[in-house]
Amino acid sequence: MSVTTASAAAASLAQVVRRHGARSDALIEVLHQVQEIHGYLPPEALREVATLMRLPLSRVYGVASFYHLFRLEPPTDHRCAVCLGTACFVRGAAQLAQRLETRLGVDLDDAAGNGTWALQHVSCLGACGQAPVVVVDGVLLTKLPVDRREELESQLDAAGIPRPPTV
Ligand code: FES
Repeated sequence: MSVTTASAAAASLAQVVRRHGARSDALIEVLHQVQEIHGYLPPEALREVATLMRLPLSRVYGVASFYHLFRLEPPTDHRCAVCLGTACFVRGAAQLAQRLETRLGVDLDDAAGNGTWALQHVSCLGACGQAPVVVVDGVLLTKLPVDRREELESQLDAAGIPRPPTV
């Protein structure tokens, strides 16, 4: 995403809505394009969408908060995703998620994270044969040794996941 000034973003938003003719059934597509502009859905942009599309703000917020693909918080610089799908879960993904929460000082699925890192869960990354898996800034880590603490910590270190100051 390119850096966009507030006035340029507002003009782009108006263009997006104009392109869709303020049709209420186009709300998801409009929100998707607004997120492309800002990197997330800021409150002022949601208010503008509601005004331009003549929709209740509650409906716009409802749709934006219902779908996982929409972010209501600015994206953090670094992101980690832990797979909690069945194959990963039976190989210790829940413990792995807890360990990542502790290392990063974040709560799972809190989009704001610690301001620098955020941790989210995903349901399956299609790498079930290599479970458990984690994605760190777009890099897939596979077969993480959940039961071998030191080895796990080394692999998380190598992936650039910071340790908390007291560890
Ligand atoms: S369940 Fe984790 S990759 Fe499929």
